Amino acid sequence: MAELLDKIRKTLLFVTEYFSDAVSYFRYCGISPFQDPNRKLFYKILIEAHALEKGLSLAQPRPLFGVSKIRFLISALDRYDVSFSRLPGEMVCGIFHAYLDLHQALGVSDPLLHDVSAFLTRYERTWDVTPNGGLRHMERDEYPQIPDAARLITSRHSTRMFLPDHLRLEEVERVVHIAQSAPSQCNRQSAKAYFYQERVDIDRLLRLQAGSAGFAQDVNNLFVITSDLAAWGGAQQRNQAYVDGALFAMNLMLACHASGIASCPLNLAVTHKTGGAICGAGAIGEGERLIMMIAVGRPALRDRLKIARSPRRPLHEILVTKLIGDHLEPR
Ligand SMILES: Cc1cc2nc3c(=O)[nH]c(=O)nc-3n(C[C@H](O)[C@H](O)[C@H](O)COP(=O)(O)O)c2cc1C
Repeated sequence: MAELLDKIRKTLLFVTEYFSDAVSYFRYCGISPFQDPNRKLFYKILIEAHALEKGLSLAQPRPLFGVSKIRFLISALDRYDVSFSRLPGEMVCGIFHAYLDLHQALGVSDPLLHDVSAFLTRYERTWDVTPNGGLRHMERDEYPQIPDAARLITSRHSTRMFLPDHLRLEEVERVVHIAQSAPSQCNRQSAKAYFYQERVDIDRLLRLQAGSAGFAQDVNNLFVITSDLAAWGGAQQRNQAYVDGALFAMNLMLACHASGIASCPLNLAVTHKTGGAICGAGAIGEGERLIMMIAVGRPALRDRLKIARSPRRPLHEILVTKLIGDHLEPR
């Protein structure tokens, strides 16, 4: 009987958790009528601006491409409140300059280009903007070749033995800054990093996380990684918060590793109730999806550091190839 009740409870949990996923996504996503309009506009401008930036980076951009996006960006920036972030304005200005440069090089003139130019003069003067978007040009000998990168990646290991030190703020800022180089869909950068050092905060947070028993007491530096649902719109994007959030988290762990800081990702496979408690305990903003926690700190090298070996599956189980000449048999 108890077994049956447990099965029913677990089945019901599917329904209630999926339902809560849908409700919170609908409530906070970028097309929700309940989401802050300026926050939605921030992401919308980044996304549309990046579409233009991508067009500029093609080998042969089509003259006067992206007219409707340009018109949208001009009107959106006039409505957008820069107190949220200056990045959209900086990015659009940089892209518009690159757009004008391209058309000058192509010898194209058009009323649209005059409008772009007039907007730039007005916007840059009003907001004292330093343009920060457009193109990076790279010569053949500038393309990075980093022989040690494979070693950096393969020598990262989840570490559960830390020295008691608190990381310095500059170190934390540095690794998060490096982690920001993670790719994100349309460069929307939905991921956020919350960082904690107070014993009481860490204890409270780790008690709500299921996988740090046995070393929680040695964690003195803790990240919680989230993704802002306002960056995502439409039901088809319902899982993308996890994709961008996880890429950012991976980059953060590599940034730590490159800086001599050990890390251990900690799952947030929790119910909405526990997730809510974590957001409360960590003062995490409304409408953010929890991605994972990451315990960080200096590795306990004074003792003999132990690391779980975590062997990997053989390559042939993971890599599926269909090379030129291979006969493809669709399933
Ligand atoms: C999303 C995620 C959640 C994890 N959660 C935990 C956790 O709760 N506790 C823990 O000790 N390790 C956790 N790990 C660490 C894994 O055990 C570890 O990444 C895996 O064994 C591979 O080892 P490596 O990280 O040393 O390469 C987690 C890893 C990931 C990616």
